[in-house]
Amino acid sequence: MDLTLKIWRQKSPDSKGKMVDYKVTDISEHMSFLEMMDVLNEQLVAKNEEPVAFDHDCREGICGMCSMYINGEAHGPDRGITTCQLHMRMFNDGDTITIEPFRANAFPVVKDLVVDRTSFEKIQQAGGFISVNTMGRTTDANNILISKHDADEAMDAATCIGCGACVATCKNSSAMLFVSAKVSQFALLPQGRVEAADRVLNMIKQMDEEGFGNCTNTGACEVECPKGISLTNIARLNREYLKASL
Ligand code: SF4
Ligand code: FES
Repeated sequence: MDLTLKIWRQKSPDSKGKMVDYKVTDISEHMSFLEMMDVLNEQLVAKNEEPVAFDHDCREGICGMCSMYINGEAHGPDRGITTCQLHMRMFNDGDTITIEPFRANAFPVVKDLVVDRTSFEKIQQAGGFISVNTMGRTTDANNILISKHDADEAMDAATCIGCGACVATCKNSSAMLFVSAKVSQFALLPQGRVEAADRVLNMIKQMDEEGFGNCTNTGACEVECPKGISLTNIARLNREYLKASL
């Protein structure tokens, strides 16, 4: 495939960015999207031009680093996948593809397609943990009975990889889906109930301080989430917050 890429280029957090056009040729439909970006960068390096900066690490849908807005959608046109799992067979020869960073005030651009998601880390540090010692006591796992329903729901919430697609997609730049997943994975388990009230109050407080918007139930976050985190987690977050506030 021969493609035209329109890519956001921005030298530094304070500089003014702009869309720049590039051509890539002989792209195989079997390549991943990031491999296609690698081809572009090899071309740029060969021409002594600055390669396009983009985040990636695992390249298998686990780390949540590959934050790109592709043709107006977080992680591109496929569903239930991250950008690194997106394949070029989703595109056609001659296509023009627009590639931008995730955009939200709480995710400032560092360079090109790389954004700073320290705000997510700060929310996690405010309460996204349990303080019990879980090291080396494997028998504990079988001592407290947990219903299969709750275990499954907690596990589903725990699959959130902190990619930020929910924020980038939301017209309010709300982080409610992310925070709800991080609260839910503990709220459903007895080990998480001990600090439940402090956790939800502190994480919501930090979320607001970081400048994320509020949720108006449009549901765009759930559609674009690569891990299928459900809106029911936001309902649970609201209940947890109300209980803790009272
Ligand atoms: S809720 Fe989904 S979209 Fe949001 S950070 Fe977690 S995995 Fe990414
Ligand atoms: S590079 Fe790790 S999820 Fe895409």
